[in-house]
Amino acid sequence: QGSARDRTPVREHWASRAGFIAAAIGSAVGLGNIWRFPYEAASHGGSAFLVVDFIAILLIGLPAMLAEFTIGRRSHRNVVDAFGSGGRIWKLAGVLAAVSAFWVVSYYSVVGGWVIRYLVESSSGAYFANPAAHFSGAAAGLDALFFTAVFMLITIGIVAFGIERGIELATKLMVPAIVVLMVCLAVYAATLRGAGAGYEYFLEPDFDYIFSNFETLIPAAVGEVLFTLSLGSGIMITYASYVEDSESLLADGLAVVIVNTFVGYLAGLIVFPLLFAQGVQPGDAGAGAIFVSIANAFRTLPAGELLGIVFYLVVLIAAVSSAISLLEIPTAYFVDNFPIPRPMIAAGVGFAAFLLGVPSALNTGTLELFDSIASEVLLPTGIFLVTVFVGWVYGREAMAELGEGLHERFLPRYWLWHVRIVVLAAVGMTLLISLASFAN
Ligand code: PFF
Ligand code: NA
Repeated sequence: QGSARDRTPVREHWASRAGFIAAAIGSAVGLGNIWRFPYEAASHGGSAFLVVDFIAILLIGLPAMLAEFTIGRRSHRNVVDAFGSGGRIWKLAGVLAAVSAFWVVSYYSVVGGWVIRYLVESSSGAYFANPAAHFSGAAAGLDALFFTAVFMLITIGIVAFGIERGIELATKLMVPAIVVLMVCLAVYAATLRGAGAGYEYFLEPDFDYIFSNFETLIPAAVGEVLFTLSLGSGIMITYASYVEDSESLLADGLAVVIVNTFVGYLAGLIVFPLLFAQGVQPGDAGAGAIFVSIANAFRTLPAGELLGIVFYLVVLIAAVSSAISLLEIPTAYFVDNFPIPRPMIAAGVGFAAFLLGVPSALNTGTLELFDSIASEVLLPTGIFLVTVFVGWVYGREAMAELGEGLHERFLPRYWLWHVRIVVLAAVGMTLLISLASFAN
């Protein structure tokens, strides 16, 4: 009794490989797909954004996700200590990632709060008379703060239960529900008058737009890819650290990327027909406006109340399954390093994030600023450091990690060089453009 070993708690892990995949998909699929992706697409030329986004997913998203997976499974540590295995300076990279997750969850919960409010008010029909008037001001203020708190409490509740009984169980139920409900909504949207115009706007590539807006399109697309795939804030590192077996990480990464992309496109196939059916110009839709426009569509559509409930319920489920991954990152660091019960840590970190989110809840402009700092500076910096770490600190070890369970020797080798050159260059360039635009 009392030996050092007794004091080192056994680290948690996923009960099954499916659990890891469900959790990773649950993290990826979120507000980034249903709220942010359509609104970013709408403010960057619609279909043009889609093309650049797709290329960025393949060239940067998937290889970067595999990079985070290899760091996590190699180290079996939270993000701070995972980077810390490369030396003291590297620990700072881990701290930055954990801070980024903390930063994002602060305003992510505010948007999650909006969703709860829309859900509640869809069931009462409260906004149906005049959504724009009803929601003007609802995005910011004390009400918004209240709903943010509700959202944060749900998130804390799940993280408190830990990996297997909290995150894994919740996401195994949530992910199938999200996909099924989204498919139903997309089928419904296809029946709307105006669906054709919506599809055209979303799907017909506008190459002129791409070439004349290159410098704004690239950082926006890279930022969205990192955001939507939960990259650059240590999530995939931490989630992979709870993986025990030596299955192929490549297959898991592919599954996450494919489902996430599929849900993002489904969201576009739902949102744009809804907007065009209403005669709303998508370009006008800002961070909060897209919800108002959608609410507006529900008002006039047959069975709009039911539709509203289903739509906001999916968005809420997707948002919660992502928020838990964000809260888990700083939580995991404290769980690994301090003898404090997990529920207390989750509550403490969640409460602190709620406080950081107060300015975003009170002012939508602040929320948009927090969001662009995250997607254009913090996440690209995080993934840049991941790239250097995998490329030169882990190097061949990372290659071996990716090679496990894979009967194929060329791919891991190619991947390492791809990370060292293509991902590094693309992310580095994006970062320079973003920093330059922030400096202006
Ligand atoms: N990937 C999730 C989404 O698309 O909503 C959540 C998320 C995780 C966003 C990590 C941002 C982030 F840094
Ligand atoms: Na996403």
